[in-house]
Amino acid sequence: MSDSITKMTDKPKSKLSTPSASRGTNTIAVASGKGGVGKTWFSITLSHALAKAGKKVLLFDGDLGLANIDVQLGLMPKRDLNDVIRGRLGLDKVIQPYPEGGFDIIAGRSGQAALSALPSQRLSLLRDQLLDVAHNYDVVILDLGAGVDRTVRMLSATAVRTLLVTTDEPTSLTDAYAFIKLGSTAGMSKNVGIVINQATSESEGEKTYKTLLKACENFLRLKPPMVGMVRHDKKVKESIRHQSPILTRSPNADAAEDVEKIAKIVIKDLANKAKQAASA
Ligand SMILES: Nc1ncnc2c1ncn2[C@@H]1O[C@H](COP(=O)(O)OP(=O)(O)OP(=O)(O)O)[C@@H](O)[C@H]1O
Ligand SMILES: [Mg+2]
Repeated sequence: MSDSITKMTDKPKSKLSTPSASRGTNTIAVASGKGGVGKTWFSITLSHALAKAGKKVLLFDGDLGLANIDVQLGLMPKRDLNDVIRGRLGLDKVIQPYPEGGFDIIAGRSGQAALSALPSQRLSLLRDQLLDVAHNYDVVILDLGAGVDRTVRMLSATAVRTLLVTTDEPTSLTDAYAFIKLGSTAGMSKNVGIVINQATSESEGEKTYKTLLKACENFLRLKPPMVGMVRHDKKVKESIRHQSPILTRSPNADAAEDVEKIAKIVIKDLANKAKQAASA
């Protein structure tokens, strides 16, 4: 993994050259140690920003037990992951367009405890279907559940990059560190990049990242790069309350602009990964 990710702020190209030439090279997982740090909001906004930049995007609700992409966007999906897991429909049949954001969604189902405890075989099947569906997109965003359970490990390993979201709260930072530590034994951490969310300012966001980086360097000998930071912004809560994406409701909000910046970095990162995969 290259530390140069922090320097990648160039304008996005219109299309990734070989978006899904290799399996998983267009897939980004969004994870966190502690819950409630903003993964789902960030995943939605990142998908929206990537779509605005001209990419064909699929957002997958990978928080199998506590799905909430549909809740944040006020959708009432007729079909969801439950139909796939029960073997009633193929994954491609539960994709629904979200015209307001210009991207597609695979919805989970809130409160389905059974989904979070899938047998490994079913989970592998789901992963394989996801990789097949991913071929039709430039970018696939996986909104994962908090922590490092089996589902998170498998979906994160499927992705070419895992964006680990943390806030500056000590518990969130400690859990982010634990995610990296546990992930390193599961072979996940080499692709982890850090997103600091709800930062009070850009410099505070940098400071938070450095605190995490120091712990990773000292105790794990790992240097997860910073992908970006998103400022705390009351427009986030407001847009969630209105079940309307922030890039529609308040496109000039600080937090919206910060995610658009991260989207540009992600586009560059994916193009580099695709190039690496093609030459390997
Ligand atoms: N940049 C931000 N500024 C202000 N508030 C934010 C920001 N990001 C997230 N939030 C707040 O955090 C809350 C939790 O967000 P979200 O549901 O996306 O978190 P999550 O990590 O997906 O949670 P879970 O682990 O339960 O899935 C939101 O309702 C929103 O109010
Ligand atoms: Mg969530």
